[in-house]
Amino acid sequence: MCGIFGCILKDGTAAPLIHASLKRLEYRGYDSVGIATINNGEIYVKKDQGKIDDVHRILNLDDLPGNIGIGHTRWATHGAPLKVNAHPHTDCTGQIAVVHNGIIENYSELKLELENSGHKFVSKTDTEVIAHLIEETATKDPSLSFTDAVLTAIKGLDGSYAIAVISTREPDKIICARNESPLVLGVGENGVYCASDTPAFLPITNKAIFVNDGELVILSPTGYEIRKVCDSSSVAREPKIIDWTPEMAVKQGYPYFMIKEIHEQPLTLRNTLRLQEHYLDLISTFLDRANEVFLVACGTSYHACLAASYMFSKLAFLPTYPVYASEFVEQHGKSVNIDSTILAVSQSGETADTLAAVTCAQQRAATILGLTNVIGSTLTRVSRVYIGQQSGPEIGVAATKTFTSQLSVLAQLALRLSKKRGKISQDEMDYLEEKLEHLPDVVDTIVKTQEEKVKQIAKKYKDAKIFFFLGRGISTATAYEGRLKLMEIAYVPSIAFPAGESKHGPISLIEQGFPVVFICPKDGAHRTLISNIMEMKARGASILAIVEEDDEEVKKLADDYVEVPKGIPEVLSPIPFAVPLQLLAYYMALERGHNPDTPRNLAKSVTVK
Ligand code: G6P
Repeated sequence: MCGIFGCILKDGTAAPLIHASLKRLEYRGYDSVGIATINNGEIYVKKDQGKIDDVHRILNLDDLPGNIGIGHTRWATHGAPLKVNAHPHTDCTGQIAVVHNGIIENYSELKLELENSGHKFVSKTDTEVIAHLIEETATKDPSLSFTDAVLTAIKGLDGSYAIAVISTREPDKIICARNESPLVLGVGENGVYCASDTPAFLPITNKAIFVNDGELVILSPTGYEIRKVCDSSSVAREPKIIDWTPEMAVKQGYPYFMIKEIHEQPLTLRNTLRLQEHYLDLISTFLDRANEVFLVACGTSYHACLAASYMFSKLAFLPTYPVYASEFVEQHGKSVNIDSTILAVSQSGETADTLAAVTCAQQRAATILGLTNVIGSTLTRVSRVYIGQQSGPEIGVAATKTFTSQLSVLAQLALRLSKKRGKISQDEMDYLEEKLEHLPDVVDTIVKTQEEKVKQIAKKYKDAKIFFFLGRGISTATAYEGRLKLMEIAYVPSIAFPAGESKHGPISLIEQGFPVVFICPKDGAHRTLISNIMEMKARGASILAIVEEDDEEVKKLADDYVEVPKGIPEVLSPIPFAVPLQLLAYYMALERGHNPDTPRNLAKSVTVK
C-alpha cells in the first residue's frame, strides 16, 4: 500500500530525513519511490521504480535541496510500476507536486475534462489528476490562496485519498488532506511531519495527531492548522503521545498482521467497489463470448473460484469450471483450445502452478484473463485483460482480506455478466448492488460484535484433535476456506465437505463431542442443512454454527453459534460468513501457542511447482 511522508524542518535539509522515513514505511509494500523538495522557489523531484536502496544508489535521494519536502512509496494500482508512474506527480508548470495514497474513482472523467482544457498528462495514474486539478482551480480563480485552491480542488475528487501537496506559490507550506486513507501528523522539536503511518516519524517524535476524513491540514514552520473541507472551519486537536514500540506501530497496535488484516476488511472491501468499470466490462464481455470458462487458482484463491462458479451460474446462467491450477495441465491440458477462456485468480500473480496452467492454455490459444492483487506481477503481463483487486499488500501468510476482496470482485463480474445477458431484472440488480455496497459495514459489525465470542469459542475447543466444516451450495466454498485457515495456522487437522456428502463417509468419524462447524446462511439450502445438523447431533457432534442473527431455529440446535447480520443474499454470503472462520483460526492458533503470521512450512507466494 502506498506510503506518504512530508516534513518542514527548522534546521537541516529535508531529503535525507524523508529518505529515512520512507525506509520505515517499507513494510507497507511498494514498487517505486520518489521525493520532491522546494528550494529557492523551485521544485526538485527524484523518483524511480525499484526499492529505496537501489533507487538511492543510482539517484542519490539525499542531495535534493531545501528544508521542506514530500516523499512516497508507491504500490501500483493505476498504471504499471514504472518511473513515469512513480510519485510525486507535478502539474503542467512543475510548480505543484503531489503524493497520494488511495484511489480517485472519478479520475478518468476528471482527466478528460482537464485534457480538454489543455492539460498535458504524462502518467497513467489517478494521482496526476490531483496536481492538474489544483493547477486548473488556481488558474481559474487567481484570487484564491494556494491552500484554498487545494481545498476547492479536492471537493471535486471522489474516492479515497491521503495527499500531501507542495507548491512554489506558498513554498513554506505542505497541504495535506484525508478521505478514507490514513493520515497522521507528527510534531517534534525540529519540525512538523505528515505520514501514512506513525512508524515513519516515531524515532523523531512520539507526539501524533490523527487526521479525520474530510479534513485538510496546513503544515507550516509554525505548526499545523486543521480545517474541515466542507466549510473551511478550524478544528482544534491536541497531539497524543504514542507509546507504541516501532514494531507495534508497524502493526498499528495489533499483535499480529493477520488480525490487523482481518480488521482491515471493511476498508479493503470498500476499495473493491472502486474498481475501474472499464476492466470489469471488458472481462465480463470476454466471459460472455467464451465457449467454456475455467476458473484457475491455488489455495485460498481456489476457494474464491469455487464460490465464483456458483455466482456465475446463479446470476448469469454461465457454467464455469473451477480447477486447482496444479491439476489443470493434467486434467484439461489436451482439451483446452482457442474457444476456451481462463480466468486465473492469484493474489500474488506469481504462483508457479497458476502460471503453468496459464502458459499451457496460452500455448493452445485460449484467452487469458486475470484477477490479482499485484499490478506488475507475471499474471498481469500474460493476461489479455486483468483486474487489480486493490487490497493493499497482505503480510500474514494466510490470506484473509485478499480472499474477501477476490469474492467481491468476482461477484461484481457475475452481476455485470448477468446484466449483459439479460438474466436479471433491474430490481434484482439494484437490490444486489445495494447489498454489495453495504457489505463493508456488515463485515465491520461482525468484527466488532463477534470477535470476543469467537475468542471464547477458541478457548473451549483449543484441544480439539480434529474439526469438521460443512456447508451447502456456495457455502461449501466457505467451509473449505474455514478448514484451510484453521489447518494452516492452528495446525488442527480438519476436513470439509459439501454437507450432503457427509453421509457418504465422513459421518463415520463422528463421536461424542466431535466439533462440526456448519455454515448456515438462510438460503435455498437452509432447510436441508438443518437435516444435516440433526444427523450430526444425533451422533453426539458438538455443533458450532455460523448463523444469521435471526436464525432462532439453528441457534437452538447449536452448542455454540456466531452471528452475522441478517438479510445477506446467497451469492454474497461467503464474504461475511468467512470472517468468523478467519477469527476462529486466528484465536485457535493463539490458544495453541502458534504465531499466526508465519505458519511453519508455508510461503506467502509459492513460486515452485
Ligand atoms: C500460498 C499461500 C496461500 C495462497 C496460495 C495461492 O499457498 O500461502 O495463502 O492462497 O499460495 O496464492 P496466490 O498468490 O496465487 O493467490
